[in-house]
Amino acid sequence: MRLNPAKPFLRYPSPSHPANRTRELASEGHYVFAEPLQVHFNPIMVSLTNKRILLGVTGSIAAYKSAETVRRLREAGAEVRVVMTRAATEFITALTMQAVSGHPVRQHLLDEQAESGMGHIELARWADAVLVAPASANFMAKVAQGRADDLLSTLCLASGAPLAVAPAMNRQMWDNPLTQSNVATLQKNGVRIFGPDSGTQACGETGAGRMIEPNDLVTMTAAMFETGELVGLNVLVTAGPTWEPIDPVRMITNRSSGKMGYAVATAAMEAGARVTLVSGPTALASPERVECIRVTTAREMFDAVQARVATAHVFVGAAAVADYRPAQTAVDKIKKTADTLDLVLIRNPDILASVSAHTPAPFVVGFAAETGDLERNAVAKLRAKRVDLIAANLVGQPGSGFEADDNHLILVDAAGTVELPLLSKAKAARELIHHIAVRYHAKNPAENPRLAHRQ
Ligand code: C5P
Repeated sequence: MRLNPAKPFLRYPSPSHPANRTRELASEGHYVFAEPLQVHFNPIMVSLTNKRILLGVTGSIAAYKSAETVRRLREAGAEVRVVMTRAATEFITALTMQAVSGHPVRQHLLDEQAESGMGHIELARWADAVLVAPASANFMAKVAQGRADDLLSTLCLASGAPLAVAPAMNRQMWDNPLTQSNVATLQKNGVRIFGPDSGTQACGETGAGRMIEPNDLVTMTAAMFETGELVGLNVLVTAGPTWEPIDPVRMITNRSSGKMGYAVATAAMEAGARVTLVSGPTALASPERVECIRVTTAREMFDAVQARVATAHVFVGAAAVADYRPAQTAVDKIKKTADTLDLVLIRNPDILASVSAHTPAPFVVGFAAETGDLERNAVAKLRAKRVDLIAANLVGQPGSGFEADDNHLILVDAAGTVELPLLSKAKAARELIHHIAVRYHAKNPAENPRLAHRQ
């Protein structure tokens, strides 16, 4: 199966996806987040680290809360870009929103300056999630009809990222059957409805229609990333390079930054797994809610993996393990006395192959960084290492692979090849984890004794 390159930004698994409990619950009603939040998510630890949130602000008195929403989103680790409708600017200024978000605010669909920088399609692709808060009755009606007559409604159509709206309106407007029918249409199409709250309103009336508070918006936005696809499973990930010492100051290593493996660990955690990340030396902070074990050499990484493989349901080898190490490590710094210097190198253990050879083996995923013939090399590696799935990418190209923030992956398994578009490593990791979850559950139906054995 090949993905349609004309539709590069996939919606995350549809609300009806059987493995997707959180999303399923989220599509059922306004306050359904209470349950998945209690199950998978500790609101005190709300994290949106490295998430790109596009905040849309529409015309409502609740727009005064939008500056606070931006601040809370950023405090939770998100990068935020703001788009305002014309009516929104009657309630809060673009300058305020620019100051709190740290980025220019976009207001117009056809904006020459922005089109040369971050145009509307680029902005739509940039977002990991779109949150419209406050969302007016008019705006929800527009989105329900699929209209695209201003920048924000166009972005809602053009973005494949999950969309949430936080209604804010007078209670009569909220209760109006036309509004309720629009809400139902939005929900049917996978749009999350955050709120509204009940209580006294700016118009003096009391009832449902108040926008929910910024803190709750942040919690619900974070929950949009929690797929629940790997709940209850142990996922073991390797990441980063290894350092193979030549002497106390020199080593053999490679250009791996660890970004892809860390993104995989984060995505697995968001999918509900208990994640252990065995990381070679990197400059990256340990992902939140992930057990991170720092190692230096390939042999240390091998030992750390061996100690945990028996309890892992899924293993993802994203580390760029050095294939060879110096046969001997000099105790003292080697002096440059001779014109030439011979280093004898010996093979390091193949961690991935050792995990595949384990009995019982977890679901094993390897990475392949190639400089050419990507698919053929990936298929060869799939067979040679007896793994369930290979995620392969070309290296040595600008903007993808080692050190870059984006990656262009193909996923190869016995069923064929799926090509992902060029995505941020965070998005590519989420796609990979979704792919793994589908394959894992197909291979291990619930009654499989492996699951019981590894609980
Ligand atoms: O054989 P090659 O190094 O290209 O295979 C890459 C895959 O194998 C990656 O998933 C990497 O993490 C894993 N690997 C390993 N131990 C090694 C070498 C590679 O786990 N010694």
